[in-house]
Amino acid sequence: MYFHIILAAAFLFVVSGEADIPADMHSSTAAGGETESESSGLDSEKSEESVPSTGEASGSQVNLSPFEKYKRLFNEHRSRQLEAVKSILNFGDEKQRYELINVMLKQLFKTIEQAKVNLTMSGFLPGDPFPENDTVRDYVSKVLENTAMFGDMVLRLPDLVHDLYDRQREWQLLLAWSYGFCTQSGAFEGPNEQLLHLMAQEVGIIAMDPNYVNPFKAANQKKKRYEEPAKPAKKKQKKIRRGPRLSHSEL
Ligand SMILES: *[C@@H]1O[C@H](CO)[C@@H](O)[C@H](O)[C@H]1NC(C)=O
Ligand SMILES: *[C@@H]1O[C@H](CO)[C@@H](O)[C@H](O)[C@H]1NC(C)=O
Repeated sequence: MYFHIILAAAFLFVVSGEADIPADMHSSTAAGGETESESSGLDSEKSEESVPSTGEASGSQVNLSPFEKYKRLFNEHRSRQLEAVKSILNFGDEKQRYELINVMLKQLFKTIEQAKVNLTMSGFLPGDPFPENDTVRDYVSKVLENTAMFGDMVLRLPDLVHDLYDRQREWQLLLAWSYGFCTQSGAFEGPNEQLLHLMAQEVGIIAMDPNYVNPFKAANQKKKRYEEPAKPAKKKQKKIRRGPRLSHSEL
């Protein structure tokens, strides 16, 4: 039971976009010598990114531009999001998953919508260079993260997500906007770029490639069983299955 509640809270945390990204970007400049030893052991020489404007980074890894730094953090955050979405697959029973996803999607689109309004008011346009203003960065990152998160969700839980998403015209319009925003941001590379591309096909923003198959769709699983090298199913699962207690109010 605890497990459920904590998990639900964690999902909402991930979705709400209260991620530590902008904060991290700050603390790494503020902390002087103690900067993330992980990021690039070479940072110590460089006190702070005093002149982020001209973007004249010296080619070496030492002077990552704010945007490059952001992309690193974005990638780290993406792995956490994907883990969270994967774990929904083992969350409660079908009805509970549906409820959870419903709550998550509402929050997710609300966040994108607000971020869009905020971006518009601050004069930031899709395709503009990565903003210097931290507040605006935060809006940008909310759009990017939540759109990517939606991609994870609709690709891995297509049946449940379609059932909710397909009847919300407002969500569809928002996603079409945020998809454009994301593609123009330059922040999606490699697997993230692919995710965006697949998501757009899955929800019909762009034409579906003739070879496109989502193996997570129940209809496709009948044909070809998808096997994920999942973690060995925990014994916990047995208990959970018989004792679903998560109620609306607890969510
Ligand atoms: C939009 O701006 C308002 C007012 O500054 C702020 O409270 C809200 O958190 C912002 N929303 C997003 C999603 O950034
Ligand atoms: C950053 O952007 C916000 C939102 O547009 C604005 O209110 C704030 O004044 C800006 N800060 C600076 C330092 O320009």
